[in-house]
Amino acid sequence: MAAPSPRSPRLRLLLSGAVAALTAAGVIAVMPNASAAESTLGAAAAQSGRYFGTAIAASRLGNSAYTTIAAREFNMITAENEMKPDATQPNRGQFNFSSGDQIYNWATQRGLKVRGHTLAWHAQQPGWMQSLSGSSLRQAMIDHINGVMAHYKGKLAAWDVVNEAFNEDGSRRSSNLQGTGNDWIEVAFRTARNADPSVKLCYNDYNIENWSYGKTQGVYNMIRDFKSRGVPIDCVGLQTHFTGGSSLPGNFQSTLSSFAALGVDVALTEVDVTNASTSQYAGLTQACLNVPRCIGITVWGVRDSDSWRSSESPLLFDGNGNKKAAYSSVLNVLNSTGPTNPTTPPPSGNGTRILGAQSGRCVDVPGSSQNNGTRVQLYDCNGQSNQQWTLTSSKQLTVYGSRCLDAAGSGNGSAVQIYSCNGQTNQQWNVNSNGTITGVQSGRCLDVWGTGNGQQVQLYDCNGQANQRFSLG
Ligand code: XIL
Repeated sequence: MAAPSPRSPRLRLLLSGAVAALTAAGVIAVMPNASAAESTLGAAAAQSGRYFGTAIAASRLGNSAYTTIAAREFNMITAENEMKPDATQPNRGQFNFSSGDQIYNWATQRGLKVRGHTLAWHAQQPGWMQSLSGSSLRQAMIDHINGVMAHYKGKLAAWDVVNEAFNEDGSRRSSNLQGTGNDWIEVAFRTARNADPSVKLCYNDYNIENWSYGKTQGVYNMIRDFKSRGVPIDCVGLQTHFTGGSSLPGNFQSTLSSFAALGVDVALTEVDVTNASTSQYAGLTQACLNVPRCIGITVWGVRDSDSWRSSESPLLFDGNGNKKAAYSSVLNVLNSTGPTNPTTPPPSGNGTRILGAQSGRCVDVPGSSQNNGTRVQLYDCNGQSNQQWTLTSSKQLTVYGSRCLDAAGSGNGSAVQIYSCNGQTNQQWNVNSNGTITGVQSGRCLDVWGTGNGQQVQLYDCNGQANQRFSLG
């Protein structure tokens, strides 16, 4: 898609709901204090703008022990099987979203976000798809992506568009999809971008955690090629199954940062670890926290008894729902990067600066239908002055062009990114014709109260949800 004209106000960032209603005192009342440590995985991860998720099985949603833990601890949900091709299109042309929607509704009713998993995969295909090949399979893949993504359009944080397409040696897996032509993966991604331009598009695989492994290099080369040719891709999911004989490699962080350096987000999407090794769980969590574009961690199930590999007891809760030692090791690592300067009072102001977000941390992006996506990633500026984000009287921020900030020459803190700019530069926030927007001056960061100086925070499109708790100073 061509970059929009800088003079055309194609996108408005609407700060939703109760912006003006919140008082500075109200903000102070919910601030964490210096000794605070978050007591759930989701809240602890959110301190650095990340999420902590789990896989949910629709068949267990009637189990209150299960749902109590899931709703309390996690803030990102993946359907373990219910959004896969065999579930969503059991007969050609007949889509079924009943189980997927059960999970989607359960999650979103509790304020949890949802990752879509997965659209194109050699496994868990419906029988009719397994028997196809060539151009009819290619068309069926395209139709499937379009059908499923239309149903969830605008609702999900990410889609695993393609799953597990590589062999261990870094060559392409010979599946019926591969048999339709080597370009099947990029066709899947291009189809997906057109179907829902607002959702992040991920490639997802296992055994790509070790940087020196052939499969890791194979996937890396594909992502690099896609980025260089403009094939739409936003993220790489590393399944991180340290079960079935795998374990945490010492170079895991290098792998994450190497993928991220290509201009994609990374996420750990299906974590489980044989016998829930505390050192491996702590290590994988720390590796993610050390990489700014590692946006979150998802464990592949709630309790050991829920795991697809339950005999290895690989999860953070035992079969009785008790927290295991690995749970504490993960929580401690997440909390160790919590607010670094949380006792500094919010800056006082004249009502023209956005002081920050509390638990919500999303920005309403109405009609978000551009390629550049809806996740907004900014850095905390910890009260530094001259940020000068100014709201219109109707609480609107108007951005001209794509959803990017020009971070070049920013003096305070770190770069600001609103993903994805697709490599475009000079994404200025401009003054509009009413003079109501000043954009960002010296800092180019947004003070998000309660996060540490220089920490990356993530703002999400909230699809019109209120109570996102931005406040004016
Ligand atoms: C697994 C589920 O956990 C099982 O319930 C199902 O029988 C098979 O699939 N990689 C993936 C996941 O991307 O979708 C798989 O989930 C585990 C491996």
